[in-house]
Amino acid sequence: MGIQDKIDQLNRLKEQVLAGGGRKRIEKQHESGKKTARERIDMLFDPGTFVELVTFAGEENIDNLKNPGEGVVVGYGDIDGRKVCVYSQDFTVSGGSLGKIHAAKICKIMDYAMKVGAPVIGLNDSGGARIQEGVDALNGYGEIFYRNTRASGVIPQISVIMGPCAGGAVYSPALTDFIIMVKKTGQMFITGPQVIKAVTGEEVSMEVLGGAVTHNQTSGVAHFAAEDEEECIKLIRQLLSFLPSNNYDTPPEAEIMEPGNREELINVIPESPHLPYDVKKIINLVVDGGEFLEVQPYFARNAVVGFARVKGRPVGIIANQPDYLAGCLDINASDKISRFVRFCDCFNIPIITFMDVPGFLPGTSQEYGGIIRHGAKMLYAYSEATVPKITIILRKAYGGAYLAMCSSSLRADNVIAWPTAEIAVMGPEGAVNIIYKNEITSAENPVEMRTKLTAEYREKFANPYIACARGYVDDVIDPRDTRKKIIETLEMLLTKEEHRPDKKHGNIPL
Ligand code: HXC
Repeated sequence: MGIQDKIDQLNRLKEQVLAGGGRKRIEKQHESGKKTARERIDMLFDPGTFVELVTFAGEENIDNLKNPGEGVVVGYGDIDGRKVCVYSQDFTVSGGSLGKIHAAKICKIMDYAMKVGAPVIGLNDSGGARIQEGVDALNGYGEIFYRNTRASGVIPQISVIMGPCAGGAVYSPALTDFIIMVKKTGQMFITGPQVIKAVTGEEVSMEVLGGAVTHNQTSGVAHFAAEDEEECIKLIRQLLSFLPSNNYDTPPEAEIMEPGNREELINVIPESPHLPYDVKKIINLVVDGGEFLEVQPYFARNAVVGFARVKGRPVGIIANQPDYLAGCLDINASDKISRFVRFCDCFNIPIITFMDVPGFLPGTSQEYGGIIRHGAKMLYAYSEATVPKITIILRKAYGGAYLAMCSSSLRADNVIAWPTAEIAVMGPEGAVNIIYKNEITSAENPVEMRTKLTAEYREKFANPYIACARGYVDDVIDPRDTRKKIIETLEMLLTKEEHRPDKKHGNIPL
């Protein structure tokens, strides 16, 4: 065979690989509202930058490929000019099922990402373990899980669920930092509807069991839901714009954009401390261009977490949401906040906490569900975090929840209060009922007495100045100066270095 024949053979081989599972299966893929593995890659990367690795893996008979590409495309390319690694499962080849070589390809790109310090994105669309390959397929998953864990905190890992992700396969996404699900097509479940019916008799549709709405709203497994694949790709790019490439890198800077009219900041909190408001209005009026990428917006809505920029630099924002459950902390909110704090800390993203918290949510369901164990995660995560931490107390800061929302004792670098702040062991009503119990019960008019004592208590204790006098709060500011204060504090903290005692790792309550 001459050189030209060999080049022709190579081109035929390439064509076979590029054709994936063939025209019919590609049509079926499109009919079910999904793009192919390669179409997704083309949308994701800056044009012409994708480089494929181990393209011909798994095939010895090169004239007739049985499983072109082994059901997964792996490689790297540029996203907004930065190197990112990817694996994209090809459902048109054996249903994107994972066999030994499919897994080896994913492992190869994960190892590559670790070597060069680049984020890794997994585009999942797979029937799970390739049944014919038995224990080799299971071992393949194990190898991926191990790498997910090893890469955790070193490079950002993003999982995208564009089709089925079934059985134990869900644990790779679960080990990564963020899960984005595409509505209608993305599914995640441990046991499918048929098994559930056989074992429990319960009938449930795939969508209700493990669709994007379920995992974004109810289980908290996913962090984002996208309408379709195009929106999903935009979301990946937007998310990456806030993240450094690895744990030694600093987050990318962007053009500085002023937010809206800061005068509006004094009108957000209602005069009555009993009334709710939307804390996102405050966030939007403080961060660059009012742009806030909320993470897990549908889960545990009593807490708000997400990314924004201040003077061009990415920050992680955490806030209580008085509009939902009065902003109380509960099990789900504690998990949501703790995990986000730890992500920011891994990747050098300063944390800004907006506090307005009346306490932990009372009730047997919370106690039985382990609010003690879950709430402890917040104390742990904030105490452990060494990135710059700024806390702004907007209104209520009561009891243990005050401590948990990054108080000075958990080593916030700066605690700033608005004049509306109330820092106390509990709310005035609860406090008065306990400490003035006798005065109230023996009064001629107990209701009047309680109201009078509550007003006195509020006047005397429900303000930021006692905490200020004792050094727990660094400054009380005009709400309109919040952005300015954050900017000057962050600038000071740019060179912050803080060390923890040497240890293998801590033991966060899980
Ligand atoms: C081998 C598979 C496969 C699998 C699908 N295919 N899943 N081949 N192993 N796990 C193949 C089909 O034979 C078919 O091949 C092609 O992929 C497309 O599948 P269809 O069934 O035609 O597609 P669709 O109707 O869209 O249904 C998709 C599906 C279904 C819901 C994912 O295929 C399905 O239920 N598959 C099995 C899912 C499963 O139970 N997997 C194991 C989970 S346990 P042809 O040649 O006809 O195109 C697991 C353990 C992991 O993963 C443990 C890790 C610790």
